[in-house]
Amino acid sequence: MLSESFIQELKYRNDIESVVESYVRLKRGGKTLAGLCPFHSEKSPSFHVYPDTQSFYCFGCGAGGDVIAFVRRIENLEYMEALRFLAQRVGLAMPEEVENDGSARLKTRILEINREAARIFHQNLSSPAGREGLNYLRGRGLSDRTIRRFGLGYSLAGWDNLYKALSARGFTEDELIAASVVSRRKQGDGCFDMFRGRVMFPILDLRGNVVGFGGRQLGEGGPKYLNSPDTPVFKKSRNLFALNFAKSSKEKGMILAEGYMDVIALHQAGFDNAVATLGTALTPEQCRLISQYGDSVSLSYDSDEPGQKATRRAVSLLSEIGMKIKVINIPDAKDPDEYIKKFGAQRFRLLLEGSANSTEFAISAIRRKYDLETDDGKMNCLKELAALLADIPNEIERDVYLSRIAADFGASREALSAQVQSIRKRAERARRRKEDGKLTVFAVNMPDGRPGGINELQRRNNMKYAVAEDRLLAALVVNPDYFKWVSKRLQPADFVTDRNRAIAQVLYGRLEQNLPVDLTSISGYLDPEECSQLSRGLAELSGRRVTREEAEDYVSVLLQHRKDKTQEEIAQMTDEEYARYLSGITAGKAGKGLPWNGDAS
Ligand code: GTP
Ligand code: MN
Repeated sequence: MLSESFIQELKYRNDIESVVESYVRLKRGGKTLAGLCPFHSEKSPSFHVYPDTQSFYCFGCGAGGDVIAFVRRIENLEYMEALRFLAQRVGLAMPEEVENDGSARLKTRILEINREAARIFHQNLSSPAGREGLNYLRGRGLSDRTIRRFGLGYSLAGWDNLYKALSARGFTEDELIAASVVSRRKQGDGCFDMFRGRVMFPILDLRGNVVGFGGRQLGEGGPKYLNSPDTPVFKKSRNLFALNFAKSSKEKGMILAEGYMDVIALHQAGFDNAVATLGTALTPEQCRLISQYGDSVSLSYDSDEPGQKATRRAVSLLSEIGMKIKVINIPDAKDPDEYIKKFGAQRFRLLLEGSANSTEFAISAIRRKYDLETDDGKMNCLKELAALLADIPNEIERDVYLSRIAADFGASREALSAQVQSIRKRAERARRRKEDGKLTVFAVNMPDGRPGGINELQRRNNMKYAVAEDRLLAALVVNPDYFKWVSKRLQPADFVTDRNRAIAQVLYGRLEQNLPVDLTSISGYLDPEECSQLSRGLAELSGRRVTREEAEDYVSVLLQHRKDKTQEEIAQMTDEEYARYLSGITAGKAGKGLPWNGDAS
């Protein structure tokens, strides 16, 4: 990324009002300007420009952001191209020394550290001290070829083997900490290794960079898996294990499994289209990522209860974006890894090809509930099936099942179709009513016309929290002095919706270092959707300050959500999150409030 001062200068010279005005006729009303939105068709103006915050937001379609976001959208440019466009507009030269930028350099260093660490872990396998690791991997049925292909390794059991080795190679303590391969000792000098005595699974991005690690313990005690936390080069929610291989697989669609070992076993058995999440629940970003490589997914999670729960979550997230989903039920084994070991790759392929998709699954479950010999049973069954059909978002798919069910029941296709349509209309009306009742719900479509998808759905399902988050984030931008007490009570992880959590991470990161957080300074760290989202919050404030009492209310709303976390969510927590959660509970028992709930200062 280019230096911030250059971008500041660029934005300073490209006043948003003057840039927008060359595309949109604006009318001034008080502190803001309004016009017809250039990003969707409308008859009355819902597009607003806010010179105060140098931002724009459309209440009709949800497009928003700073001047760079505006140019990107309207000229359809990549980020760098938009910068070049704006630089040219005001006759500013683009600096060439892009790689001199501090954050880009740190990223490069972290990638070097990770690659070096992965190499060391891998080499350990062939040293006497790492023999245990090699034996473990071979014992799990992995061939030496597979071990090499995935770059698997072993972290030695001492406290600081990696720390010493990497220090000797010229990496500084700060760089090693930023890469999260070591942590600073609480007492005394120096650092200790994050991974000790574990078999190591390097996580690669699509370009083949090592971005993080998963480490599995060999014996008992301690968490079974330790995963790298997010770092400047690693976002767990936006990566998938083995996607670097799966993306060029010749197999159809992808297989989504739960664990690293499952994925590796699948690849070894020839299913090189298998991927897994990185120790967290499936995210909307990961679903989008999968959808870029085909329109079908086979879910192959563990057969236990958590695995089934995760399957249900995945089905709902993936069907929301129109993916074809197959659910693979694994009989007589706890996971794909064990199944393949017991029954072989051929049998797994049969499962894969024979597995019913989720709709067929649901249809047969409904049919089993009724006595189809009686007219009554038939009628009621058809009624329930019609409701199921109405829920299928894809029209073609809906049609296929509709025809098949009508034929099976000897019913009129037209009659069934009419029934389904009327259910859909009713549902649509109910949805609208619900939205009308909530002032803050705007577009369900994204500014570029794509359906809003999962992020919008997630917001709708968590409207109370989403609104509190919007306001709180906007408050932090307008009143950065609130950060001190807000951050004592609330962490980015406490944000409920994915998009706002990502924004919070950026804001917190900067506020912690006392860096400015006005939209102009941070938009380069946000993707277009996040940028729009934050602009929406700012637009709703329209320049007003947020009182401390208001901000505290928003914090309380979000803390309430944390308290209400269900067992299911706890099960999906990462180690760090779980540790934090636990320490909160015990602190509560000791008579003090939860740490994150502590006194506002
Ligand atoms: P094996 O037990 O060696 O077969 O591992 P697996 O890869 O099959 O993993 P498992 O099904 O137990 O868990 C699925 C995934 O959840 C793992 O690959 C990890 O990413 C994650 N996971 C498992 N245990 C833990 C844990 O203790 N902490 C964290 N943070 N993640 C875990
Ligand atoms: Mn397993």
